[in-house]
Amino acid sequence: MNAQLEPFHAIAISKQAHALKAAGRSIIHMEFGQPSTGAPQTAIAKAHAVLDAEAMGYWESAPLKERLARFYQERYAVRVEASQFILTCGASPALVLALSSLFAPGDRVAMARPGYVAYRNTLKALHMQPVEIACGADVGFQLTAAALAAVEPAPQGVIIASPANPTGTLIRPDELKAIAEVCRARGIRLISDEIYHGLSYVEPAQTVLAYAPQALVVSSFSKYFSMAGWRLGWLLAPPEHVERAQAYCGNLFLTAPSLSQHAGLAAFDALDELDGHLRVYRANRRLLLAALPGLGLTTVAPPDGAFYIYASIAHLTDDSLAFCQRLLRDTGIATAPGIDFDPVDGKHFIRFSFAVSTAEIEEAIRRMQPWFAAQARLA
Ligand SMILES: Cc1ncc(COP(=O)(O)O)c(C=O)c1O
Repeated sequence: MNAQLEPFHAIAISKQAHALKAAGRSIIHMEFGQPSTGAPQTAIAKAHAVLDAEAMGYWESAPLKERLARFYQERYAVRVEASQFILTCGASPALVLALSSLFAPGDRVAMARPGYVAYRNTLKALHMQPVEIACGADVGFQLTAAALAAVEPAPQGVIIASPANPTGTLIRPDELKAIAEVCRARGIRLISDEIYHGLSYVEPAQTVLAYAPQALVVSSFSKYFSMAGWRLGWLLAPPEHVERAQAYCGNLFLTAPSLSQHAGLAAFDALDELDGHLRVYRANRRLLLAALPGLGLTTVAPPDGAFYIYASIAHLTDDSLAFCQRLLRDTGIATAPGIDFDPVDGKHFIRFSFAVSTAEIEEAIRRMQPWFAAQARLA
């Protein structure tokens, strides 16, 4: 029998939110990590043109792979070949490809807890063993080289994410380098989820390839490029691993959608528009961080990137799911419960996604102020 996977509780919260909206309530959607902005204009225009002109069979866009390789040179000053990219339907299948082509059933793969729920669940679905390393606010909820070095016996692999979901925190370059060294010394295969790159409020995130050319990178058009529903991403593999990963991709997924590949390439002509979204997130982040102490939420690691704030509600509840449900019912604000990211301590956390408009953030703060004050009185 295959492993039992836990549901994503934010989906249940979202369903409730939509039901309340259908009943006439005003809802602010801060439960999912997805931009509300839609694809850039250049991508949409290209998609319209392609729809009328092409039959759209199975296809892998050589120009998109070339553009991605150039992007790594421009953004990170890291040289990779176009042939190292495997185009996928988002980072999710890229992760499946990385894990299934690197590891065998029973292999142990380490990751930070809290972390993105699909790491744990994808490993379980592939009969691999997640090794969750508790990472608290003191280390920005991020994996450290020391924590990875202390895992006994050495795991076969590790997944890192910087900026991370649910916290938005970065692994600093020195630490990234140290993690790469631990991986080299202990023979641990390194997978880096770089899906939130491009969304940074402090220093830009560096790709792990700058320190570990043998690492596998997963990423996608879902976040910075604001194209989550277009289902387009990539696996970037070291040259000697590409053929193997490509064989897995051909068998498991065939190709990414042709339409999205055309649109994805055109999105590179809209970097100004996309940086405009980042300016909105920056303003939202500032507003929320300034408001949190007034709500009594003081244990947070300020996000360096992505569009999340992960805050402790330990002084108010032991049940983050029920708490998020109450918050939604009373204020119309949908959020994600910490148990989606951390099966142990997540009962004490809530995640706010600020990938919404600044007006919505202002309204959310207005609604939350009296509500959190009332919760504090009840606790
Ligand atoms: C850290 C992280 N990795 C991967 C994904 C999956 O993204 P995609 O839409 O590219 O499959 C998400 C989605 O929220 C995420 O937060």
